[in-house]
Amino acid sequence: MRHMILLLVSLLLAAPLTIVAQPNSLLPVPRNMRMGEGATPLTLDSGTTVRVTRFRDARLDRAVARFVDRAEARIGVPFAVPGGPTATIVIEVTAAGQRVQGIDENESYSLHVNNERAFLKAPTVVGAIRGLETLLQLITGDEQRFYVPEVAIEDEPRFHWRGLLVDVGRHFMPVEQIKNTLDGMALVKLNVLHWHLSEDQGFRVESKRFPKLHQLGSDGSYYTQSELRDVVAYARDRGIRVVPEFDMPGHSTAWFVGYPQYASRPAPIAIRREWGGADAIFDPSREETYTFIDQFIGEMVAIFPDQYWHIGGDEVEAKHWNGNARITRWRRARGFANTAAVQAHFNRRLTTILRKHGRVMIGWDEVLHPQLPTQTVVQSWRGVNYLSEAVRKGHPGILSAPYYLDHIKPATDFYLADPLPAGTTLTAEQQALVLGGEACMWSEFVSEETTDSRLWPRLGAVAERLWSPQHVTDVPDMYRRLDVLAGRLEGMGLRVQSHTARMLRQLMPTGDIAPLETLLTVAQPPFFGQRLNGVSTNQLQPLTRIVDAARPDPSARWLVERLVRRVVQGPVDVAARDSLATLFARWRDNAPRVRALGTGTPLIAQSTPASDALARTSEIGLQAIGYLSRGERPPSEWLQMSMIELKGYEGPQGLLRVSIVSEIVKLLVILGGVVS
Ligand code: ACM
Repeated sequence: MRHMILLLVSLLLAAPLTIVAQPNSLLPVPRNMRMGEGATPLTLDSGTTVRVTRFRDARLDRAVARFVDRAEARIGVPFAVPGGPTATIVIEVTAAGQRVQGIDENESYSLHVNNERAFLKAPTVVGAIRGLETLLQLITGDEQRFYVPEVAIEDEPRFHWRGLLVDVGRHFMPVEQIKNTLDGMALVKLNVLHWHLSEDQGFRVESKRFPKLHQLGSDGSYYTQSELRDVVAYARDRGIRVVPEFDMPGHSTAWFVGYPQYASRPAPIAIRREWGGADAIFDPSREETYTFIDQFIGEMVAIFPDQYWHIGGDEVEAKHWNGNARITRWRRARGFANTAAVQAHFNRRLTTILRKHGRVMIGWDEVLHPQLPTQTVVQSWRGVNYLSEAVRKGHPGILSAPYYLDHIKPATDFYLADPLPAGTTLTAEQQALVLGGEACMWSEFVSEETTDSRLWPRLGAVAERLWSPQHVTDVPDMYRRLDVLAGRLEGMGLRVQSHTARMLRQLMPTGDIAPLETLLTVAQPPFFGQRLNGVSTNQLQPLTRIVDAARPDPSARWLVERLVRRVVQGPVDVAARDSLATLFARWRDNAPRVRALGTGTPLIAQSTPASDALARTSEIGLQAIGYLSRGERPPSEWLQMSMIELKGYEGPQGLLRVSIVSEIVKLLVILGGVVS
């Protein structure tokens, strides 16, 4: 009998596994994908084998080894070795790809999975790297086994330039943090790390030629040349280019701590601690300035092989260009009518230097000027219109304006901002000049500890916008997959959500942090400008407050938005009303608990204004749900007073913002009109 049961069990196990098609969580969505329907998937287990056919090189071998490690970690058993002709996972690459990855590197791949085999085919190693990430994301499971569903994918990116700017000038990020970020970028198929390496607040690279740059300009926080090379190699292994930015002529105070002779302002010059534009900028009138820059770039191009070089060029505070008698004489003698003309001259000189070193110049949109050579790439940050203006004038352009992650906007805003929207008035030729986009993570209010939470998962929304077809715009599905992405990254060791509990523990070593965690599911940091105006901060202030423990675009905001939409749009949705009422009651009742914790430390007491505002917002929401459920029109006085009260909660409450105020306003608007 026992044998019979065992036989039956093994027969069952051997039977082809049939799955119910479930939504996949691929991010970014591939260009073309056909899922098998109710088909038999490919089981992954200790019998799985991997084989690389045709081309192979060390970079591909490392990519495959990482893939195997991650897949094995996921399924909990090692694959079988070696993979022979009948291997389960076959990787066929045609060639290495470009020696230095360029913007036209072929990143395409195809992936075909049936119940016997996964076949990944790519013309280049970078294409294979993209495809391996897709294959990893497809691994799923049930009670009995892990598998990859039957699928046929043909994939390639919509835009060539899909980047992330990381600002290590204002707050330094150690190499490990940069590598974690690169791992996350590879997961979502981003391909440019734009590394903002010098700022008023810090010069972050070792220069052997001009050692006072890092010795005096960095507070000791800088990358050695061997660390820089290591990061560039790490990025290349993941199909990611590294574009360095050394911002000039402005945002350059830290250069002049060691080398004040190249500044327009008299010495001494110290590292600037305050945020915002600084007036220590390069002296454009002296030949020595250009020799210095030329020699510095000459040293750095050996470390950064990318064809592109970012000179910054933004927010030039020209006080000393106009106030320094020597520079003014020079300007008049040259016939430069204004600051813009001086900057254009400076940029032309930089273009020549960069060209000599084999580099193409990129600058922020302030560099746009009739005198600027058209090869110069213009990166728009002040508005989408600057992208259009740049490409209309014949410059390649990169869009960043809508993708400022540090501005703490919801993922939806990033997702729906298209570099080339459907109704664009650009000609086909001008559209071809739009290279893509870059998310920006400026670090005034971002530390090593909080950066993962400010980057992810929202960066996934930008990554998908830049990779996937234009018609992929389903916001609810994006949020569903961003949740999965957040979990994946957390599983890889990034502190996407886990920083909250740890930082709360720093504020409060003992006691129950749950009320604060509850608050932070719905309260978020204020928008960038609001924080800047709220409390004066500088580089020396620790980023360890409740606002730093908070998360941008917190989970409950999206949940409430969805539920309110169901309630507002009708037909009557009792379940949505009940869910909202439960959430509102929980948040209302949370306030006294937060208040009690605040008696222990002033830093926790800082959360009570937001907690109290959340409680009142929730109370109004509960009353609104009550009126809706009873089909009653509320007294107009209640509507009016509630609306006024809610308006008062729209801005920051202390240093936190209640993220759902506008959703409660929607409920009131409905109540003021037609009761559903
Ligand atoms: C910038 O945000 N100043 C480029």
